[in-house]
Amino acid sequence: MLFTQKLSNLSGLEKKIKSNQFKQARNKFYLKIKSNSYGFINDLYEKKIEYVYSIADKLKNNENIIFLGTGGSSLGGKTLVSIKTNFFLNEKKPQIFFLENVDQVSISGLLDQLNMEKTSVVVISKSGETIETLAQFFFIKKIISKTNNYKKRIYVITENKQSTLKKIQEEEDYLFIEHNKHIGGRYSVFSVVGLLPAAVTSFNIRKFVEGGKKFLKFIENENNFDSFFFSSLAMILLQKKGVNISVIMPYVDNLNNLSFWYKQLWAESIGKKRMGTTPVNSLGTVDQHSQLQLFLDGPRDKFYTIIGRKKINKQTILDCSFGNKNKIEVLHKKSLEILLRAEMDATIQTLQNKKLPVRLFELESVNEESVGSLMMYFFVETIFSCYLVNVNPFDQPAVEEGKILTKKKLKVNEY
Ligand code: PA5
Repeated sequence: MLFTQKLSNLSGLEKKIKSNQFKQARNKFYLKIKSNSYGFINDLYEKKIEYVYSIADKLKNNENIIFLGTGGSSLGGKTLVSIKTNFFLNEKKPQIFFLENVDQVSISGLLDQLNMEKTSVVVISKSGETIETLAQFFFIKKIISKTNNYKKRIYVITENKQSTLKKIQEEEDYLFIEHNKHIGGRYSVFSVVGLLPAAVTSFNIRKFVEGGKKFLKFIENENNFDSFFFSSLAMILLQKKGVNISVIMPYVDNLNNLSFWYKQLWAESIGKKRMGTTPVNSLGTVDQHSQLQLFLDGPRDKFYTIIGRKKINKQTILDCSFGNKNKIEVLHKKSLEILLRAEMDATIQTLQNKKLPVRLFELESVNEESVGSLMMYFFVETIFSCYLVNVNPFDQPAVEEGKILTKKKLKVNEY
């Protein structure tokens, strides 16, 4: 496997793997796989890589690419893009931006800096009706439509059905890319939605998809399934004992966005009928100086998922032979990577010592394949956990009320 999982403080729960709850949920998952019921999995085997690269090549002719979308229409792509790009600087050409919010101040702040003649816009919305995404588009349209040939630089990813966005795309003759109707928003990272932004960078989308497939192949074996998803069962069982929060904490900067992706996947899928744990994201080592005190000594209501990597290619050895030697000699001739590792291990050990439930996912190295496998792990875990608690992993009924209310408020000119 491209990553390993180590568990701590879950003993006593192992026998529950023999429970009907576990077996039924696992069998349901296997049955659905057998009957090709998951659109996002079927899509892995579609020949689409060349097609995605052909669109990415067109996009690369620009200085800037702005992706519009929210939730599942942005978080997957954003995660993949951040695997290969500089954590601090958006330095490569084309520069890639994700607009997720409708805050005019930040959007204007960005657009004012960009040459819109050399900018492409990709509007992503499965439904074609998301008000935030449409509003972003209308805002940008006002600006980009003043530039030459702008219609050739607007791309629309949406389902091939009548919707507000589809109608705009047809009327304005923008390039249309079909969103597979069998793939839900938050399950779309292996589809064109996640792959297109990634393909614009040096991220190898073929290897990423292979990584996802490899994980699925691995869990065809029941023993592998059981050993990897025992921790998912444990998380569900511990909720009955008040463990209501799922903390995800990578010790890898380039996986920070993966936590945001996980947060949405988990929350929107399982948070139904009073079920679900609340996802909280954290970044090691940064949050050791922020949340860790609470994690260790606050309420014992959290389950910890730490993500680390085994190796990086090049490590720079530190010279600490100046200043106050006594204090920092432990660091002398070590690398930042060794320090990061030591801090991660120390965090895990302190959590273990406090008898808190922890699991460590360790990636052989952070690359397209291992990230593909890990993201597939989280997909399967989410679906399987929803089956464990009998909720539908694919809908999000409760947020509909707010969407309707927003439109009502706009209609009566409340503002
Ligand atoms: O995961 C989901 O289904 C949601 O978070 C959607 O991705 C989000 O609401 C955006 O929807 P759409 O792609 O239809 O604009």
